[in-house]
Amino acid sequence: MAKSKDKKLLKPLGTGDTTIPPKDAKMIPIFIMGREYIVPETLTIMKAIEYSGYKYVRGCGCRGGICGACATFFRFTGDYKLRAGLACQTVVDANMIIVQLPFFPANRPGYDLEDVNPESLHEELRAVYPEVFKCVGCGTCTRTCPMDIDVMDYIALMKRGDLKGASHKSFDCVMCGLCAARCPAQISQFTAAMFVRRLFAKYEMPQAEHLATRVKDVNSGKYEKMLDKLLKMKQGDVQKLYVEREREPDMAELGNWLPEDKTHL
Ligand code: SF4
Ligand code: SF4
Ligand code: FES
Repeated sequence: MAKSKDKKLLKPLGTGDTTIPPKDAKMIPIFIMGREYIVPETLTIMKAIEYSGYKYVRGCGCRGGICGACATFFRFTGDYKLRAGLACQTVVDANMIIVQLPFFPANRPGYDLEDVNPESLHEELRAVYPEVFKCVGCGTCTRTCPMDIDVMDYIALMKRGDLKGASHKSFDCVMCGLCAARCPAQISQFTAAMFVRRLFAKYEMPQAEHLATRVKDVNSGKYEKMLDKLLKMKQGDVQKLYVEREREPDMAELGNWLPEDKTHL
């Protein structure tokens, strides 16, 4: 590993990041895959990695804290604590030692929601994800989650058979996999939660009538002509149409807004 006295030699290899750091931004040392780089302290981990000359091929998606693709573990030199975060949301700090986790081998059993017995959803969960019931209640998952979700709590709700509670509690999960990476009981909390949300949505939640109507419309071919028309338009005209479209105002009353032009409904 490079020593700090060599810092002049360790200027960024290239700039994959177009962000221009604020004038006089302090430069700090960070370590990416064991090698030291000097980066502006204002960057997120993701931008600092790009600033250091790396190009993302995996481990990067939305850049907005939504997709969970940029799960990252880090430590600080001289500190025993292993920390975790999303690279696109966490700002670098001096002496951060970073490794990204573009994929975590979580348990993703195959299942068919059509074959599920709606009378015993809790048993279905036990059959597909038996490891959920081995949770030891250590709380590591909750402390690791970058979305501040009480993961241990939604696992506890699953164990009790409260699928509705577990669905609501896990709803903000971005599927980064960091909780599963740290679980001593080897539970894939986030994939189990996805299964529970699917069970809950299909078998327990009241069906949304407007959605059923829209699916029927789609299947009946109601939108085919409109799609054809769009496909034949020039790119610039589609862009114009998109920019000038009627939009739901931010403060519109939930579920009550309708566009003035109802020809596409
Ligand atoms: S619950 Fe797990 S997978 Fe979901 S956001 Fe939190 S740490 Fe990531
Ligand atoms: S890390 Fe695993 S064992 Fe610990 S509370 Fe979370 S789910 Fe349970
Ligand atoms: S890139 Fe999507 S959450 Fe970070």
